[in-house]
Amino acid sequence: MKLKVENLSCSYRGALVLNQLNMAVKEMEFVCILGPSGCGKSTLLNILAGVLAPDGGSVYVDDAEINGLSSHFAYMPQQDLLMPWKTILENVALYGTIHHQKKKMKAQAIANFPKFGLSGYENRYPRELSGGMRQRAAFLRTALCGADIMLLDEPFGALDVITRGVMQDWLQDIRSDLNRTMILVTHDVDEAIYLSDRILILAGQPASFKKEIIIEATDRNREWLFSQTDLHREIYYYLKKFQ
Ligand SMILES: Nc1ncnc2c1ncn2[C@@H]1O[C@H](COP(=O)(O)OP(=O)(O)OP(=O)(O)O)[C@@H](O)[C@H]1O
Ligand SMILES: [Mg+2]
Repeated sequence: MKLKVENLSCSYRGALVLNQLNMAVKEMEFVCILGPSGCGKSTLLNILAGVLAPDGGSVYVDDAEINGLSSHFAYMPQQDLLMPWKTILENVALYGTIHHQKKKMKAQAIANFPKFGLSGYENRYPRELSGGMRQRAAFLRTALCGADIMLLDEPFGALDVITRGVMQDWLQDIRSDLNRTMILVTHDVDEAIYLSDRILILAGQPASFKKEIIIEATDRNREWLFSQTDLHREIYYYLKKFQ
């Protein structure tokens, strides 16, 4: 297993949010987490990324236990956190600045601008980009991090339905190039069906995984997605049941 989570618990001011959570993700697997607002999805990602300490439990990557920050996780938090006073290139190459590899990271970023639909915007500022472009910039920054597991918290949540669809198509297209293990949190059932190898439903107070849905289809496209009415209905049923 690439990632293993064992008996993970977390509370805020004495209120238990996650209780004895267990999870295993295979190398290169794309897992989507669905669940009601406030159930603890971001909390889980914060713990995996090492920015929040759990009350108990363990996280293993490649069978080695992880405590706190680790180079295995690239995290795109729920809000795109581009710095308004920095250009897109400076924002995207931010990790290079932090790790004193500015030149190398900028070169890598520039090489990836076309693939991320950002060509020509290197020296623009976040306010000059559309919402979708800002999300792709934040995504590129996360991808350049070089970590082997990407944690994406509602990466397209703030976008209108058409732009979101375009971004989902784009992610579907570049997925094999990214070559990473992916964990994506979303409220969008279609997004989860379209992108996932496996969907996990997190729910309850405190939360635990209530249901696992494996999706084996290859060669997915929008037409395929529109025809997945039974799967959509099943997921909706479980979301409602465990809300
Ligand atoms: N820093 C914090 N201090 C206190 N309580 C918090 C904190 N962060 C989150 N919580 C609480 O923990 C619970 C889980 O929050 P979390 O952000 O993980 O939910 P979520 O599933 O990501 O929700 P959403 O789908 O709305 O993003 C919520 O009840 C929230 O109020
Ligand atoms: Mg959240």
